[in-house]
Amino acid sequence: MRINIGYFTSTGNTLQLCLKAKDIMESQGHEVELYEIIKDRAKFDQDGCDMVGFFYPVWGSNPPDPLVEYLFKMPEGNGKKLFLVGNCAAFTGDTGLRWKKILEKKGYDVFYLDHIVMPTNINIPWLPEDIWKVPQGEKLKRILLRAEEKLQKVCAAILNGERKVEGKGLISRLGGYMQRKFYWTADWYKPRFSVDKERCIKCGLCYRVCPTENISIKEGGEVVFDKKCILCVKCYNLCPVNAVLITKKSLNDKKYRRYKGPSLEIKPVEYRSKI
Ligand SMILES: Cc1cc2nc3c(=O)[nH]c(=O)nc-3n(C[C@H](O)[C@H](O)[C@H](O)COP(=O)(O)O)c2cc1C
Repeated sequence: MRINIGYFTSTGNTLQLCLKAKDIMESQGHEVELYEIIKDRAKFDQDGCDMVGFFYPVWGSNPPDPLVEYLFKMPEGNGKKLFLVGNCAAFTGDTGLRWKKILEKKGYDVFYLDHIVMPTNINIPWLPEDIWKVPQGEKLKRILLRAEEKLQKVCAAILNGERKVEGKGLISRLGGYMQRKFYWTADWYKPRFSVDKERCIKCGLCYRVCPTENISIKEGGEVVFDKKCILCVKCYNLCPVNAVLITKKSLNDKKYRRYKGPSLEIKPVEYRSKI
């Protein structure tokens, strides 16, 4: 079977899951192609495959903004089998369920919805620390190990054509609804990015990895943020010297730990080349 998987990742969790899923599925004789939904948009062909899937991080009980935009513009499904696998730090709510309905209206057979718990990447000021503190050491290893176990089951179920729809329970629906209703709070953070000039080493990584091209670099190296931030927190997390700040509070990078990704093998997706 040929399976085309689209994904968006900020700090690499989703990409790691995709790469492992590709390995698992290919070890069972299937052919899997991965498409980053911004960079590979033109190549991502939903016709020339037997099944389409999406892997994505959960953002307030929704897929990330670039994927939402992509899903709305999907072509007609004509009965094509489609699966959605979210990943989140704690709670996914009814994220997939909502999109199942939207994609079914387009004619897709959305047969499988599930999620996998991965480490958080959003340890930013004013979010409750006990939930959002970036895990380290043994705790991090434990989360990644459990995620891999779950991924094995998810892949087996998808390949067997099992039908699963998560998110139908009252808590999932109510939690999802509330998260979406209050997601406007994310907007508060978006204009509050800055760069600490003393830490900045002018490597330009923040500029290259920003999915919305929201960052520009002036002559002399000053980093400037425009108004297109989607709070993917990629620049904030991946800056090698933690110079990207969300309010001055985050100068304290012991308290507001940056998430550098699930492993050293996962390199950040870059959208632009050198400045
Ligand atoms: C803007 C934003 C919103 C998030 N919202 C949620 C959420 O509602 N529930 C949750 O459990 N995790 C949430 N997370 C955590 C991510 O879903 C999680 O860490 C994911 O594994 C990151 O994947 P990535 O590295 O591929 O981007 C959020 C992260 C970001 C950046």
